Amino acid sequence: MQLLKVEENGTAKLYFLSSALWFVLGALEGITAATGLVIPDLFGGIAGLVFSRVRPMHTTTMIFGFAGTALLGGAHYIVPSVLRTSLWSERLGKVSLWVWNLSILTGLVALDLGHSQGREYAEWIWPANVGILLAFALMFVNMLQTAANRQEKIMYVSTWYIFAALVYTWLIYFFGHAVFNMKGAITGLPDAILAWFYGHGIVGLFLTPLAIAIAYYIVPRVARSPIYSHVLSLVGFWTILVIYTHIGAHHILQAPIPVWLKTMAVSGSIAMVIPVFTVLVNLWLTMRDRLGLFHADIGGRFVTAGLVWYILTATQGTIQALPVVQRVTHLNNWVIAHSHIGVFGFSGMIALGGLYYMLPRITGKPLYSGRLADVQYWLLVLGMAGFFMVLTAGGLVQGHAWLNGTTVYRTLPMIHIYFIVRAAVGLLIIGAAFIGAYNVIRTIRGEQAQDERIFGEVFQGDPQ
Ligand code: HEM
Ligand code: HEM
Repeated sequence: MQLLKVEENGTAKLYFLSSALWFVLGALEGITAATGLVIPDLFGGIAGLVFSRVRPMHTTTMIFGFAGTALLGGAHYIVPSVLRTSLWSERLGKVSLWVWNLSILTGLVALDLGHSQGREYAEWIWPANVGILLAFALMFVNMLQTAANRQEKIMYVSTWYIFAALVYTWLIYFFGHAVFNMKGAITGLPDAILAWFYGHGIVGLFLTPLAIAIAYYIVPRVARSPIYSHVLSLVGFWTILVIYTHIGAHHILQAPIPVWLKTMAVSGSIAMVIPVFTVLVNLWLTMRDRLGLFHADIGGRFVTAGLVWYILTATQGTIQALPVVQRVTHLNNWVIAHSHIGVFGFSGMIALGGLYYMLPRITGKPLYSGRLADVQYWLLVLGMAGFFMVLTAGGLVQGHAWLNGTTVYRTLPMIHIYFIVRAAVGLLIIGAAFIGAYNVIRTIRGEQAQDERIFGEVFQGDPQ
């Protein structure tokens, strides 16, 4: 069957294609939500377009559909590559991809029809959740069998992160969605605690390790140099697993949860400096004196930008986990800025870096258009910087107004202009999403634009 056709790296290719298409949908949902905040009555009569439905569709499309799918595509390429073998079963890989895509679609359609579990990032209905768990289980079996058949005895650092992400995500997804309970949530504060262990886990133990795995794969290849330090790789890996797993309560510091839980969350958030900066220092020292190579390689360029956003996201994360800071920043657009630079600036940019680095190596041909990839890169860099500035500024206005006791109906007009600018900046990202999808489709079809900048042609003789 065509949908399950077996070809070398065909699974990774389809994951990348799916991600590019989800990105377009997610961006359209984002602009719909943003427009709804500027002109609340605009879609008044159409239930499927109201903010409360479109917002969770946007967040889950971006997290799972766009960033998650491209990162998983990268994982399916990296594991066989570094273990010097083929994916154990391309057919199983494609089955997992279709189960994954169908589950996302089911969750999104149900949300648009008004069926939501009402917990952030865990809004999808039960059948979609079962599908996602099944997809992860199939991926895990495939990767494990691939590792069992490996020619290369040493498991490179990227594979540790990929396996850890698959195992951890399955567990946090299962418990976080309370999948054992078809109705979804459990009750009261325990549910809030559970939901936020899941919510932060999904960015910290799903997106983050997969993005780091791709960075660890691409950086030494583009730099043409081995990783600076194996010891730093080990420290970064084990500390993220030990620390990130139990800091979810920093999302609900303002709620009446046990104090020991808050203390653990805040101290763990400060300790996050260790895994974040060991990984960053290790990669920077590998890149040292070779930035020109990263600028010249479009995949390397996206990864570099992602690592820069990672510094900002993580530093900001630690600061905003301090209760005194959260009194101003919590529950306003400051956090929305953090979400965008984390989920998009960091993990989304690295996911795209993986896509642009790996796709030409999968198809055996250069990208359809290096120039379009370049344009997409700059639109996204500008779009993300714009988002970060306008949302942070708007959030500070909101936070201080509320702290001073200003009522919501007086605060909203103050931030209206920020909403308008955010929607305008969103157009850059929509443009980038369409350009990306066009470029990916034509690259997969093996086409070549009349374009003087060709990226992805230096794939013969890559260091392994
Ligand atoms: C077309 C560009 C985009 C627009 C216009 C947009 C707009 C929005 C809006 C209006 C919200 C809801 C904010 C609120 O509740 O006040 C939101 C939330 C969110 N968006 Fe986007 N977005 C865009 C791109 C992206 C991208 C590229 C990603 C990630 C890959 C992303 C991830 C998220 C996440 C994770 C949230 C939840 C934030 C939170 O609750 O803290 N968005 N976005
Ligand atoms: C590594 C260190 C990090 C720390 C210490 C940290 C800390 C925090 C804190 C304290 C909040 C809650 C803010 C509030 O509600 O007032 C938060 C929210 C959030 N973080 Fe991070 N963060 C980190 C990294 C990341 C990364 C790498 C990502 C994305 C891949 C990310 C994505 C998010 C998202 C999406 C939210 C919004 C959740 C919501 O909807 O309320 N964070 N982070």
